[in-house]
Amino acid sequence: MSSFILAIDQGTTSSRAILFDRQGQVAAVAQQEFAQHFPHDGWIEHNPEDIWETVVATCRDVMRNADISADQIDGIGITNQRETTILWDRKTGKPLYNAIVWQDRRTSDLCQSLRDKGHTDVVQAKTGLLIDPYFSATKLGWILDNVEGARERAEQGELAFGTVDSFLIWRLTGGQQHVTDATNASRTALFNIHTQEWDEELLTLFNIPANLLPEVKDSSDDFGTTEAHWLGASLPIAGVAGDQQAALVGQACFQPGMGKSTYGTGCFMIVNTGETPSLSRNRLLTTIGYRLNGKPTYAMEGSIFVAGATVQWLRDGLNLFADASETEALAQETRSGHSVYLVPAFTGLGAPHWDPKARGAIFGLTRDTGIAEIVAAGLQAVCYQTRDLQHCMNDDMEAPPGTLRVDGGMVKNSWVMQFLADMLGVQVDRPTILETTALGAAYLAGLRLGWYQTLEEIEQLWRCEKSFLPEMEESTREELYQGWLDAVSRVRSS
Ligand code: G3P
Repeated sequence: MSSFILAIDQGTTSSRAILFDRQGQVAAVAQQEFAQHFPHDGWIEHNPEDIWETVVATCRDVMRNADISADQIDGIGITNQRETTILWDRKTGKPLYNAIVWQDRRTSDLCQSLRDKGHTDVVQAKTGLLIDPYFSATKLGWILDNVEGARERAEQGELAFGTVDSFLIWRLTGGQQHVTDATNASRTALFNIHTQEWDEELLTLFNIPANLLPEVKDSSDDFGTTEAHWLGASLPIAGVAGDQQAALVGQACFQPGMGKSTYGTGCFMIVNTGETPSLSRNRLLTTIGYRLNGKPTYAMEGSIFVAGATVQWLRDGLNLFADASETEALAQETRSGHSVYLVPAFTGLGAPHWDPKARGAIFGLTRDTGIAEIVAAGLQAVCYQTRDLQHCMNDDMEAPPGTLRVDGGMVKNSWVMQFLADMLGVQVDRPTILETTALGAAYLAGLRLGWYQTLEEIEQLWRCEKSFLPEMEESTREELYQGWLDAVSRVRSS
């Protein structure tokens, strides 16, 4: 009887459950979208119960789809939207407030005042991050200060904080485990990536009581066992990583200098930098790529807040097409030489600008601009933003990646991938398995469960489906990119 690992991929717009076999092949997938809440300009929330219910439902669905029982599952790997912040009651497991999503900008002014007071260097030195509403610390502070009684209850030890992985593990284990892994911890702005501990000075700076925090484990570790009634058996949770780091593992980027870019809701380019954390001079982030046997492997990250979300907006907000798969054909119809630029700063700009108050815009409209040009501009924006990151990486790293591995929903679109290769001037490799995030979580669990002994074994399983080589004339590339830089300069808030 064959056995599987169940990967839970709890993302920004949907929860997915995927069954993998030992070869890293997908046996079945289940997915459910859930509601996004936008209570004010720049605020984005999820109902944690939606997160929880869609996770349990998709896990049950995927077993049904594959016609297998829980006994055939050796263990679980969890990967998740990072930074998203949940505070819950230790007794009841009930959240005190909605999950404040990573894209949420409500703490912009607080972050500005912390920067004005000169705290940037200490935060960057200890966490590898910048002071920005993106990270969990100020989101958690906001809940403590704005939900009645939360801070007092926190001081009394009644509450628990977690990113989505922690919350799911708490629920799956019936409140037995309050844990997270080092990759998720490294996104809170409270975790010292050098000492691998929650940092007293940062807890004081962000005014966070230490008793709220989960225990930090390796990415491949014992995260407890699920209560049998949720999924039909008691299953070990053996691997956990934030989704972008999980994709790094799923893409087998285990050597320093290897990098991947994931095009989901946002786009995150992460390059393995090995055993030493190197700090960016260009406002990229230093983060933990994965931690195995107590040993962290570091990475440099460029984070773009809106990638696939642009396609979603073009579809649902503007109704320009019914299905994302239509965008490839639409983009191919584009009038050549169009100079429409769409800057998708819907929730501000991430790396390297870090401008939470910037907002989106479309430039260069002419009388003959049609749907195709606007759609193409939306797709191209993702590639231009990747080029922004590449530019910083090239300056920050001695040996930046000469090839980029890509994954995420958008990379199915070959038109976008060709434009990406053209814009970056490097080879872009699309793997056979595009479920790289979930695959990474499965690999991490598999390492713990003895499916794989070494990272080299996992490396052997990576397969390229198609390589895209740069074809564009240098002068055209530069001209197009200059147009993008000009468009971005016009949406900046300062
Ligand atoms: O840092 C945010 C990131 O983890 C969200 O990923 O895949 O939901 O866009 P995704």
